[in-house]
Amino acid sequence: MKKMYTISDLPQLTRAQVRENFKNHMNPGLCTYLGLLDFDKYYVKAQGVNVWDSDGNCYLDFLGGYGSLNLGHNHPYVIESMQKVAARPNLLQASMNGVASALAYNLAQITPGKLSNTFFCNSGAEAVEGALKLARIATGRSRILSCEAGFHGKTMGALSVTGRKKYHKGFEPMLPHCDVVPYGELAALEEQLKKNDVAAFIVEPIQGEGGVIVPPAGYLNAAKELCHRYGALFVVDEIQTGLGRTGKMFACDHEGVEPDVMCLAKSLGGGIMPIGAFITTEEIWNAAYGGVEKCLLHTSTFGGNTWATAAGIAALEVIQTENLPQRAAELGDYLLSGLRSLQEKYPIIHEVRGKGLLVGVEFEQPAKGIMAKLAGAINKLASEYLGSMVAGVLLNEYRIITAYTLNNPNVIRLEPPLVVSREQIDVVLNALDETFHKNRSLLGFSLTSGKTFLSSMLRKK
Ligand SMILES: Cc1ncc(COP(=O)(O)O)c(C=O)c1O
Repeated sequence: MKKMYTISDLPQLTRAQVRENFKNHMNPGLCTYLGLLDFDKYYVKAQGVNVWDSDGNCYLDFLGGYGSLNLGHNHPYVIESMQKVAARPNLLQASMNGVASALAYNLAQITPGKLSNTFFCNSGAEAVEGALKLARIATGRSRILSCEAGFHGKTMGALSVTGRKKYHKGFEPMLPHCDVVPYGELAALEEQLKKNDVAAFIVEPIQGEGGVIVPPAGYLNAAKELCHRYGALFVVDEIQTGLGRTGKMFACDHEGVEPDVMCLAKSLGGGIMPIGAFITTEEIWNAAYGGVEKCLLHTSTFGGNTWATAAGIAALEVIQTENLPQRAAELGDYLLSGLRSLQEKYPIIHEVRGKGLLVGVEFEQPAKGIMAKLAGAINKLASEYLGSMVAGVLLNEYRIITAYTLNNPNVIRLEPPLVVSREQIDVVLNALDETFHKNRSLLGFSLTSGKTFLSSMLRKK
C-alpha cells in the first residue's frame, strides 16, 4: 500500500515538505509566486490576531482571511458551539434542519428592511450565483448590471459580473447579458436601466478588491431607487463588508439602505466553517421559488449543514456580545487617522481610504524612469505588484501579514480581525513609519524586496 499521511503525521511535517506537496500536488505557480517574496511560510498555530510559523515566530495577521476573520482565528466560542451540535446529523437533506432554520431566523432579525428568506451555500461566489439566478427567475428578465472594478468571485456567473478583464481572459465567453457601469455614477446606471430589461444591479457597498473604494454619500439609496423605477432588483454584496467590518453590522446600515437581496459569506462562518448565503424578501422568494413546483430549482448538497450553520449562529452571537461593529468603528478611525499622518510625511502614500477596519493604502504609481532601472522579475513585481512588495517588507522585516487588493495591486489592505487591540494597531503603524522612512521611494522598496527575492531563490535552490 502506498504511504499516505494520517492526521498524526501532521505535527512532524516540515516547511520544506509542505512546499514540496503544495508544488507537486496543488498549485506549482502559486508556490513559486509565494516564494518570490518569502510568503511561503508554514503556519501551524493561530489565535485571535496572532499566528505562529513552524519555527515558532509569532505574526500579526492584518489580512484577516480577506474579511473572513472578523472574530479572529479559532474563536473558542465558535468551536465550542460546533461541538454542542456534534451529535446531530450534519447532512440530511430530505428534512428540515433545525440549526439552519434558526440561523435563517436570526439573519431575518438583523438584516435591513424586509429581508426574511435565506438560502445557504458554501462560499461567497456561490451566494452571488444564487442571487443572480434568483433575480433572473423572479423578474423574468436576463440582463445583469455590475460595476467596473467590482469583485464578486471567480465561478462562471460571479466572474461574469466581476469587473476586471485580467480574470476573464482565457475563460470567455462570459455569461451573456452582463454589463458593467462605473462605480458611484448614477447617470450611467440609469442609462442602462432605462432599457427595461435588467434583472438586477449587483454592487458592493464599499469595493473591497477594487482597492477599498468608498462610493459618494447617498449612492446606494439612489441606485436602489433607480433599480425600482425600472423594475430591477437591487442586490448588495456584503460578503466582505458585512458582519461588523465597516463599523455597522452591515455597510448598508450606514445610510439605512434596504436591498432586495443581500449576499453574505466569509465571517458568517465565524472564521472556522465555509458558509455563504443570500437573503431576500418573502415576496421575491415566492416569485422565484414559491410553491412545490419551484422549491427545488436551486439547491446545494452541503448548503445549510449543521456544523456550518451552528458556526453562523455562534458568529452572530459573538459579533453582538463583543460589540465588534462598534470596535471596528472606533479602531478603524484610530487606524485611518494614524495612516493619514503617515501620508502627510511620505509622498509614496498616494491615498488612505476606508471605513471601519476595511482600510486601503494606495501608493504612487511608479514612474517610467524608475521602472527601467529594475531588472526582470523584480521589474514585473514593481510594475504590477507594488502593494505586494510593501506587504513583503512588512511580513519579512516586521512579521505583519497584509496583502494587496485583487483588482488593484497598487493598494495594500489592512483588514485585521475586529478583536484587534489599539496596541496591535500601533505596532503596524510604527512598522509602516519605519519602513517608509527607510524606503522612501519605490526604488527603495524594490531593492529591499529584491534582496528578499534573491535570498529566497538562493535558499530554495
Ligand atoms: C465582495 C466579495 N464578493 C464575493 C467574493 C467571493 O467570495 P469567495 O471567495 O468565498 O467565493 C469576495 C471574495 O473576496 C468578495 O470580496
